[in-house]
Amino acid sequence: MSQLSVTEAAMRSFSQANDPRLGQVMALLVKHLHAFVAESQLSKEEWLRGLEFLTQSAAITDADRNEFSLLSDILGISSMVDVVSQPDGGTSSSVLGPFHNHDSQLRPNGVDLSGDQPGQKTWLHGRVMNVQGQPIAHAEIDFWQNADNGLYPAQDPLQDPQNLRCKIHCDADGNFNLLTLRPHPYTVPTDGPVGALLAASRRNIWRPAHFHVIVSAPGYVGLVTELFPADSAYIDNDTVFGVREGLIVPLLPSQNAEVAARYGIATPFFEMNFDFHLVPQA
Ligand SMILES: [Fe+2]
Repeated sequence: MSQLSVTEAAMRSFSQANDPRLGQVMALLVKHLHAFVAESQLSKEEWLRGLEFLTQSAAITDADRNEFSLLSDILGISSMVDVVSQPDGGTSSSVLGPFHNHDSQLRPNGVDLSGDQPGQKTWLHGRVMNVQGQPIAHAEIDFWQNADNGLYPAQDPLQDPQNLRCKIHCDADGNFNLLTLRPHPYTVPTDGPVGALLAASRRNIWRPAHFHVIVSAPGYVGLVTELFPADSAYIDNDTVFGVREGLIVPLLPSQNAEVAARYGIATPFFEMNFDFHLVPQA
């Protein structure tokens, strides 16, 4: 069998799939994987090494740790899926990441998440609007970030599981605000085969600092995104390729005395202002 006929036969083998979309996706996957083997002239040793890599990834994957998800992230596949599924016109989406928790508590708009823990006080505020710039009343913000030590609660038994995360509802004019802390860059897990691959490739293992936000409102496409302080390290070298130009936001010192008095904090504190634009559902 020639190279071409192997590829054609393997693609055709999925033509009777129960779900036509499954057949289409698998045929295209075969087409491009075969092209990769041909173009790279992959040796048998290299192919076996690849299988061994996947076997090692499976061995350390469990309910709390998914090495395949991390592999997808560091290959840029998670971000590519995000880019191709993005509707036109709204705020850019970005990767969800592994630390989202569906159980975040609903807190009042304006909540102080920072409390008395260490970190640089940061006032995050803005509006949720449609693509025409009209406010969306009572949209829901689901927010989470890492603490001053760079860790999320799931990585740090000393943090309350609800630390630095919440849901809030915007007011009738789409306004939201909360007091939190400056987030910090952090590394992806490096103790598995993906970490070994990053080391062997002499790749950066850091993500730039970011806030995670999911914005949702009835009648609009839900937005999963991240906001990146413009002065963060690694902003140009995110190991999971999640940074989009429109999501890099200034995080600047503020002397706003009214906000400082409301929270009982000193000036200057840090401030980030960002408006989200949601796309209507088709
Ligand atoms: Fe994150």
